[in-house]
Amino acid sequence: MRMANKIGLVTAAGSGMGRAGAITFAREGAAVAVVDLNKAAAEAVAHDITSAGGRAIALSGDLRDDEFARDIVKQTVKHFGGLDFAWNHVGHPGPSMVEGLDMKEYDQVMDLNVRTVFVTTTVALPELRARGGGALLFTASTSGLSGSTFSPLYSAAKFGIVGMVRSMAKRYGHEGIRINAICPGPTDTPMLRVFVARPDSQLPAGETPETLVTKRGGQNPMHRVAQPQELANAALFLLSDEASFVNGVALAVDGGATA
Ligand SMILES: NC(=O)c1ccc[n+]([C@@H]2O[C@H](COP(=O)([O-])OP(=O)(O)OC[C@H]3O[C@@H](n4cnc5c(N)ncnc54)[C@H](O)[C@@H]3O)[C@@H](O)[C@H]2O)c1
Repeated sequence: MRMANKIGLVTAAGSGMGRAGAITFAREGAAVAVVDLNKAAAEAVAHDITSAGGRAIALSGDLRDDEFARDIVKQTVKHFGGLDFAWNHVGHPGPSMVEGLDMKEYDQVMDLNVRTVFVTTTVALPELRARGGGALLFTASTSGLSGSTFSPLYSAAKFGIVGMVRSMAKRYGHEGIRINAICPGPTDTPMLRVFVARPDSQLPAGETPETLVTKRGGQNPMHRVAQPQELANAALFLLSDEASFVNGVALAVDGGATA
């Protein structure tokens, strides 16, 4: 088992990649806190894990609330006795527009992509240190590696994640704390459909969100979108001891799109 005796949390774990990650880590021996805004979804994932013989708790709340973003670490430690890893996966595509943007929307994108994961990290670091080290993983995007016509603001937030990861990796590596980012290309989750169908995305005539998912998502050397499990597999590697000397990396899992 690749995560035996490890304790961790996954945010946005009620759906998509986070769900696949939580289930995968638990299958590999980890005790996992499944964190999501959607209570029923978080509980369903935790139930899937425990009914398969794994260890999980569901924690539901809004990660835009700083208190909840801190509490998920405290609850995980209280329930399982420590923290060895966290996948800070939560994020939000936000609007596509630049001109005329309501700055409240700017704040929402920055809050959910950058602020909340920073807040969680402030309380996760001392817990990792107390265990003699650990691993943090942040979800950026290919939009955090190269510019994106469709989402300049989201891209700014995800570049921010990559900058945060590289800086914190340098700062905390000497304590045995590894900090990496995963950069998915278009991945087959509900968020991808929200992303392509945003009201200001100017859906071309004759296109539906589904046709755009296939077309835009397939603009990579492998001509398809990723499946959530493919991201969970990469996350498993980065959070496990197999990646013991991998620190400060922003790993593209994008079928070669950014190659
Ligand atoms: N799907 C893609 O194509 C893609 C590509 C690149 C990066 N990403 C990134 O992946 C992450 C999203 O993952 P997904 O595609 O697996 O999404 P998803 O749509 O399958 O799931 C998102 C989950 O986040 C939860 N959530 C939303 N707001 C929340 C909040 N305020 N507090 C707590 N939970 C909240 C939702 O309830 C939902 O269960 C984001 O960071 C996103 O930027 C996605």
